[in-house]
Amino acid sequence: MAIKTIGVVGAGQMGAGIAQVAAATGRDVILQDIAPEFVERGMATIRGSLDRFVAKGKLPADEAESIRARITPSVEQAPLAKADLIVEAIVENQKIKQELFAELGQLCPPGTILASNTSSISITELGKASGRPAQFIGMHFMNPVPLMELVEVIRGRETSDAACEAVMELAREMGKTPVEANDFPGFVANRILMPMLNEACYALMEGVAEAEAIDTVMKLGMNHPMGPLALADYIGLDTCLSIMEVLHRGFENEKYLPCPLLHEKVAAGHLGRKSGRGFYEYS
Ligand code: 3HC
Repeated sequence: MAIKTIGVVGAGQMGAGIAQVAAATGRDVILQDIAPEFVERGMATIRGSLDRFVAKGKLPADEAESIRARITPSVEQAPLAKADLIVEAIVENQKIKQELFAELGQLCPPGTILASNTSSISITELGKASGRPAQFIGMHFMNPVPLMELVEVIRGRETSDAACEAVMELAREMGKTPVEANDFPGFVANRILMPMLNEACYALMEGVAEAEAIDTVMKLGMNHPMGPLALADYIGLDTCLSIMEVLHRGFENEKYLPCPLLHEKVAAGHLGRKSGRGFYEYS
């Protein structure tokens, strides 16, 4: 199953990172989003990341330029019909993702593999919506995509061996280590990570310690590169809340109840770094 052209739907932080590592394999990439300002922001994210690699001497300037040039931004869905694999990285909402996959299932030739970067939603259910469950798979990248080595690969109930092998091989070519997980809510990464971030919210809400102190304990005490509250801000508090809700609904277990403080922050529009304010303030 040869993958020559890759489509990425959603030009946010994750989609831009996926487009960048996909183009770095030498393939042509179409980066699609619904509004020009979204695709422009995605292209700016990619330029910023490539510039950092160039400035550090990790990437020659001409190679960075070729990577950028292989990415074609688009606000139309039609060009995605040329892709052999499409990775979706839009908002973490099952209904919106299902609608998108139903459209992509109609648009693309039968051989095209559709992948979701969902952090928690059922791959089997998204695959069903696409109308091509054998050609459907989860490809869960970590933020920041250009730096993080893991790709969690999730097979739905009907995902074919060929689609899985193609995606595992592509992840390796992207310089990543793919790890297979089964289709449970939150898979492995977020089943373990999110309850920890949620617990940090409870610790803050209950006054166990200030945000900086909670983060310092986890950084210095557990050698985590970022404290849980800083990491939640980095991921986006709306995304963290959505994932906790998927875990809570999926397992029907109160231990996954999202912290009220997380609800409060999201309701106030304090979504973390992307909105300039979450547990911390960002300029
Ligand atoms: N592109 C290129 N370079 C980048 C970059 C990017 N997007 N982001 C950071 N860098 C570079 C910086 O330039 C810097 O380079 P230098 O050390 O040579 O100067 C280096 O990476 C380190 O960056 P910073 O100094 O800004 O900060 P840190 O040392 O804290 O590193 C980090 C940043 C790599 C993000 C590190 O803090 C980290 O690993 N944090 C944890 C991230 C994590 O857990 N991610 C998973 C989240 S869960 C997820 O994504 C799943 C989802 O479903 C929720």
